[in-house]
Amino acid sequence: MDHDIVLSKSEVIANKADDNQRLADALKRAQCLEPPVRVKPVAENEGIMFRMHRAQHDLLSVWREKDYSIRTSRMKLLNQDYVLCNSPDTVRRVFLEQHDNYDRKSPQMRRALEPLLDDGLFVSDGDLWRQRRRQCAPSLTNALLPGFCTTMTASAEETVRQWTHHPSDAPIDMLTEMAHLTARIIGRTIFGDDTTDEEAEQVVAGFTEYQRHSEHLDMANMLGLPFLSLLGNPLRRARTRYSAKQVHEIIDRIIDRHTSRSGQGQHSLIESFMASMKDGGNNGCPMGRKAVRNEAIVMFMAGHETTANALAWCWYLLDYDRQAMALLQQELDDVLGGRTPRYEDVAKLPYTMAVFEEAMRLYPPVPMLSRQARGADQIRNREVRPGTVLLVSPWLMHRHRKLWEAPNHFVPERFLPKVPRPDKFTYLPFSVGPRVCLGKRFGLYEGVLCLATLAQHFTPTLLPDHQVAIECRLTLRPQGGLPMKLQPR
Ligand code: HEM
Repeated sequence: MDHDIVLSKSEVIANKADDNQRLADALKRAQCLEPPVRVKPVAENEGIMFRMHRAQHDLLSVWREKDYSIRTSRMKLLNQDYVLCNSPDTVRRVFLEQHDNYDRKSPQMRRALEPLLDDGLFVSDGDLWRQRRRQCAPSLTNALLPGFCTTMTASAEETVRQWTHHPSDAPIDMLTEMAHLTARIIGRTIFGDDTTDEEAEQVVAGFTEYQRHSEHLDMANMLGLPFLSLLGNPLRRARTRYSAKQVHEIIDRIIDRHTSRSGQGQHSLIESFMASMKDGGNNGCPMGRKAVRNEAIVMFMAGHETTANALAWCWYLLDYDRQAMALLQQELDDVLGGRTPRYEDVAKLPYTMAVFEEAMRLYPPVPMLSRQARGADQIRNREVRPGTVLLVSPWLMHRHRKLWEAPNHFVPERFLPKVPRPDKFTYLPFSVGPRVCLGKRFGLYEGVLCLATLAQHFTPTLLPDHQVAIECRLTLRPQGGLPMKLQPR
């Protein structure tokens, strides 16, 4: 995080003490409350096949109590070996130190996403991944972020206008609202500001259709549950390919529209990918037309549902802890005084950022990461054979009893600027190492700016009789949505 404000030495010392004192007080207060919604661990004596069967419906229900405190574990299912890396040193080994051995996504992940993303950088590996990452990264650099932030706040202002006309006694589904908002933002970021909500929604509808037909797309299958693969029938596979083709056609049409009016000075990801296609890119490897399309789909898929879910969880937590909502709105009033936030304001909204980061600790939008070992290795005392699938679960790491104080409680103060940062191999909502999320800063700024714009005008409250539950598929979201009423401020 940048901290643009220059403080005197004594102010820095005072702030440091303040933030740490605030954390100590907040931890004490939080532990007097029942923690926000969590998942009941499975009984220790349940067999692996039974646990894996449960994983078909909810991946998080496979974890036992002891998985929240162990460092590694090993599983074998038919012919597939798995090693769970559940400590900072083992995560560091897989994601950083031995990256070249573990740069491949698991075969299940590749099978699930390749029909849609083709050779897109989310699923590719080796030289192709390196080349694409180099080509796409400049489009998301810090220099271009302020421009994207304007798109974020303009899009959130549109949501404010829609909410203003919504009857305050009629509930909205906050998960759907956040999905519309982030689709609008990522759609305009990728394709330009004249992208309509209808176009963005068409892409989202295409993804939803794809997910529905893809027999591989749920997290349980991502772990390689063989009986599910056996169930996958050819008709379903054909439908998956058909829905992927539909997404490709929608994106191709938008790209065609762009090509016909390119050079009008509008900044968008597709514009800079296409520039890379024309001028040979920054390393002499031009991106082909198909590569531009595939990477546009990657950006849309990777940057849409993740941020929407993180924001939905923020609203749930801010309703669960009204004092946190009051502190957040106080910060917004002090810093913004009712105006629309800008890029520079993000550094001045530390509590808002802390709420967003703590929400992603408790409910990491991507709760499970998996890789396949190319060669043999040893992780702590576990033998890794070529082909072994390595699992890293941000869900488990973020609630690990030996790594966090009050791991199940909502305490945004953990992320205040003067409190020591959690280790980056312990807190990893965006993953870590060379394959870290390419939209990490984008996603953080988007989260803070959307919260800041909306919470200035509204205090959303959950319907009193609604029981929030966790649904874990590819991403982690509130099951069945989040019915809330919008209380204008
Ligand atoms: C809160 C929001 C977000 C979260 C929590 C998040 C999380 C993640 C995670 C955990 C990964 C690694 C996946 C894996 O290794 O299996 C990832 C990869 C990626 N993310 Fe994000 N993401 C977010 C927003 C975004 C946005 C807004 C964009 C684009 C603008 C984006 C683009 C990407 C790309 C391109 C990759 C693939 C990187 C690679 O494999 O080299 N993400 N993200």
